[in-house]
Amino acid sequence: MTADLELGELVTGLEVGNVAHGGHFVARHEGRVIFVRHALTGELVDVRITELSKRFARADVVAVHRASPHRVVPPCPIAGRCGGCDFQHVEPAHARELKRQVVAELLGHLAGFDFTGEVAEVQPAPFGWRRRMRYHLDGSGRPGLLAHRSPEVVALPVEGCRIADVGIAVPPADAGRPDGQLLALATAEGPVFAGTGPTGRTVLEQVGERSYRVSLDGFWQAHADAPRVLVDAVVAGLAPRPGEVAFDLFCGVGLFAGALAAAGAQVWGVEGDRRAVGLARENVTGGNFVSGDVARRMAGLPEAADLVVLDPPRAGAGAAVLAAVAARQPRAIAYVACDPAALGRDLRIAAGLGYDPVSVRAYDLFPMTHHVECVAILERR
Ligand SMILES: C[S@@+](CC[C@H](N)C(=O)[O-])C[C@H]1O[C@@H](n2cnc3c(N)ncnc32)[C@H](O)[C@@H]1O
Repeated sequence: MTADLELGELVTGLEVGNVAHGGHFVARHEGRVIFVRHALTGELVDVRITELSKRFARADVVAVHRASPHRVVPPCPIAGRCGGCDFQHVEPAHARELKRQVVAELLGHLAGFDFTGEVAEVQPAPFGWRRRMRYHLDGSGRPGLLAHRSPEVVALPVEGCRIADVGIAVPPADAGRPDGQLLALATAEGPVFAGTGPTGRTVLEQVGERSYRVSLDGFWQAHADAPRVLVDAVVAGLAPRPGEVAFDLFCGVGLFAGALAAAGAQVWGVEGDRRAVGLARENVTGGNFVSGDVARRMAGLPEAADLVVLDPPRAGAGAAVLAAVAARQPRAIAYVACDPAALGRDLRIAAGLGYDPVSVRAYDLFPMTHHVECVAILERR
């Protein structure tokens, strides 16, 4: 119970414990759990309560009385107010260690998997990595970013957003858009700035020798090197052979399907965004792409598959999709996960269906934030 805490209340002298999923740190106040943002393990801090629920409270650090040796001065002047980067106060190598702890704790607790790896640094890091930005205009028409869980716009500093690719870090001055939003993309053809909403316009992305057309506002991996890193991990883990049948589920514009097809596999992709499916057909000629919800569309796919790639949104693939995948008896599955909690839950479900992880690798594809990407390779027992 957190009944006697109030929203906005100042709680002083909190001892900060371990990092938790979501980049919060666990503290206890008179027996109650408070998840604290912008803290570090071992610190003594004052916090302001920002959210209350029956089981716990959330709070932000407002004063640090005993700092962690891993605390640094945030490089960005709007850190703490901008909702984008929640690990600006953490020395980058230690941020990766914190993410390792979260991955190990979640996979151990939820799936009984002993994660012994590191969270690999991926260049560019920790700045200039983000190739997709959505800026918002404040009341004066200045571009900024949204505050944490809030519609408030925090204006960008003059040097722009530090984690954005330099070409899109400072939006042009005439960026005004009717809905107050501005998309900024660093693409293979250079920087692109545009309003939101479906325009039919596409941009070109390059991954090694393969190129992909992507809708202006469609999904593409945010980190500049993420497509290459993830494709390499998936291809190395699955080791596709010519003629094998491979599914790319939650395929977007066919990133993994393209790599599997290049290795000689017969690929089938399923994706919910119809425009992305149309582009996947152009990007991966010879592939078979189906539009719709993966769980429902699985019935229309071949009854046997050798390889499956799963790259679901944060909620994870879930039991129905995993059951339909296991029914195809693939020899290996690559699960690309942006939420290690959903991955942990799904690894446990997959184990019940006869598939065990043979490797899990983690990548720091979101420097300066708590987010982490994992690639798990599963094989049939
Ligand atoms: C993390 S993205 C991965 C896209 C692609 N694999 C890539 O790396 O570019 C997840 C994709 O799943 C799609 N999606 C989300 N929920 C879906 C569902 N229930 N059925 C089909 N596709 C879905 C989204 O539109 C998005 O393209």
